[in-house]
Amino acid sequence: MDKYRNNPDAVKALVRDDKVHRDIYIDPEIFDLEMEHFFRNVWMFLGHDSQIPNPGDYYTANIGGEPVIMSRHTDGTVKVMHNRCPHKGAKVVTDELGNTGKFFRCPYHAWTFKTDGTMLAVPFKQGYEKTDFHECEAGKGLVPVKNVKVYRGFVFVKMSDHGPGFEEYFGDSLSSIDNMCDRSPVGEVEVAGGTLRYLHNTNWKQFVDNLHDTCHPMVTHESAAGTARELWAGQPEDAVKPMAVELVWPFMNGYEWFDGMGIKLYENGHSYTGVNFSIHSAYSDIPEYTEAMEKAYGKERAEAILKEARHNTAYYPNMTIKGAIQAMRVARPISVDKTVIESWTFRLKGAPDKLLERTCMYTRLINAPTAVVGHDDLYMYRNIQEGLESQANDWVSLHRLHQEGEAEAVAKGPVVLNGTSEGSMRHQYRTWAKFMTMSMQGDKK
Ligand SMILES: [Fe+2]
Repeated sequence: MDKYRNNPDAVKALVRDDKVHRDIYIDPEIFDLEMEHFFRNVWMFLGHDSQIPNPGDYYTANIGGEPVIMSRHTDGTVKVMHNRCPHKGAKVVTDELGNTGKFFRCPYHAWTFKTDGTMLAVPFKQGYEKTDFHECEAGKGLVPVKNVKVYRGFVFVKMSDHGPGFEEYFGDSLSSIDNMCDRSPVGEVEVAGGTLRYLHNTNWKQFVDNLHDTCHPMVTHESAAGTARELWAGQPEDAVKPMAVELVWPFMNGYEWFDGMGIKLYENGHSYTGVNFSIHSAYSDIPEYTEAMEKAYGKERAEAILKEARHNTAYYPNMTIKGAIQAMRVARPISVDKTVIESWTFRLKGAPDKLLERTCMYTRLINAPTAVVGHDDLYMYRNIQEGLESQANDWVSLHRLHQEGEAEAVAKGPVVLNGTSEGSMRHQYRTWAKFMTMSMQGDKK
């Protein structure tokens, strides 16, 4: 018998003020319900408009279990449609990225659609003349995704009509996207190269929990960052660290350092680490970049943009950016214990190539399938996934620096916590319970 379906009270009971039930990570029924409800009720990152610069360009993805197409229409606007032929249901576009020319053509029966998804033509059309084909959904073309927002090039969608609008959902947390874009002397970023994909045999929430887990780097990443420090040991105090050492070095900083970094929480589960400083704060200056920024924005504004060193900004639930390093990761849930983590690299338009070189090296060392740091995390996620099968204890602890009244405080406006607080995780799970149950039958709210 289904334990959680149409039982919002049972789902809500999985999240308590300072702990969450292990079923949220390991129960296949919970995962199915996340696909039916949670991922449809929240705004999810789809792609970036720099991936589709020319009319006819497209990018495809799976959002909450549904295949979608993002395309550049002939009028220059970005359109998002369901990737499902109205005829028999085939995916009209099967490649991830490309240019379709003037129209999409279904590979099964060659029905064609304009680049905004509207019906163009059906072969041998006289067979439909005496039917109600043109009046029903079959004759209308590809169904548009209703809730679409392009924010500074980042394309977000919400698949259901439940839940808040885009601005209300993200609020002031959008300042992290702003800061990443403002780091370009012309205020724009573009995707550089392809998306690196990394299969994690774990639940998607392991990855999201870890984004702001600041008590693990000095332990879990000792093998990678500790080794870098050992290799560098004995160098003169004023020796310039190679870029790779500089990037990995801060992962071995102590608890007090991470605590002082600070975490800022916004409504609906969004948050970032690095309110005061971060692992990106001590990077070497790139003089020609500073010069380009000052020329573009003036000295004062350029300094204000560059002094922000936010570490991970988690756009709940599936996207996290590092504005200061122009990198992004996106979680694409596959099953209860399978998640694809995508690593994206951005180029700051108008900035020197050295910036992109740093972004690429960071991704290679920390986040990509080739990384030395990311594998430490994956090992622990898998370890947790197996450990949670234990029936000895149903609860996962989120007690660290818990305070009464946290939910009410965030509802009133952004809140800053100590960097080692588990408050961001508690906040994410309150949000999870809200969006998970808002479209369930039997929910009274
Ligand atoms: Fe980590």
